[in-house]
Amino acid sequence: MRTPSLLVAILLAAAAVSLNSGADATELLGAPEKTTHLHFFLHDTLSGKDPSAVLVAHGARRAPNHDGPTPFGSVYATDDVLTEGPERESKVVGNAQGLYISSGRRQLSLVLGMDFELTAEPFNGSAFVVYSRNNVAEHPVGRELAIVGGRGKFRMARGYALLRTHYLDTNNGDAIIEYNVTLRHH
Ligand SMILES: *[C@@H]1O[C@H](CO)[C@@H](O)[C@H](O)[C@H]1NC(C)=O
Ligand SMILES: *[C@@H]1O[C@H](CO)[C@@H](O)[C@H](O)[C@H]1NC(C)=O
Repeated sequence: MRTPSLLVAILLAAAAVSLNSGADATELLGAPEKTTHLHFFLHDTLSGKDPSAVLVAHGARRAPNHDGPTPFGSVYATDDVLTEGPERESKVVGNAQGLYISSGRRQLSLVLGMDFELTAEPFNGSAFVVYSRNNVAEHPVGRELAIVGGRGKFRMARGYALLRTHYLDTNNGDAIIEYNVTLRHH
């Protein structure tokens, strides 16, 4: 008597486990995909007493100078502010933390690896992640970044961001960039 009931218990446990994992997968894959558009301005400030981007490494013989704040091989760590409008006093809606690398030998091009976390509703605490080339010199308007993932409400996100340079000080590197983001997520 004991052996069959133990077997039944094991079979039930196995069934429960496989049903659970099946339900998880269905929940994720079956949920309808949503499209979300976001619009904001990123403030990347290298100058002043409280910069939002700081140099953490640079290529040999290529230290930043007044002629070029981001020579090839420079790596900056960022905690950039995201605002609703282009003015720094405009409502803060998030921050972008990560790195960018000056990756163009001939003209200004960056590779960004950054996590954009929103702090305003309805997406407070959710984030999307960019890992992409940012061809600043070639496309002052309409350059595109790839969005490769997300967290929170943007779990499983993918998408793209279209950028326009709103302001760039080529002497100190300070910039304000307009972002139009399109995200597909569950
Ligand atoms: C966003 O969430 C944080 C942490 O839960 C909270 O402290 C903050 O007040 C929220 N902000 C808004 C605008 O709701
Ligand atoms: C973002 O979208 C708005 C509204 O469609 C448009 O006016 C603006 O030019 C766009 N900016 C970029 C950088 O794509």
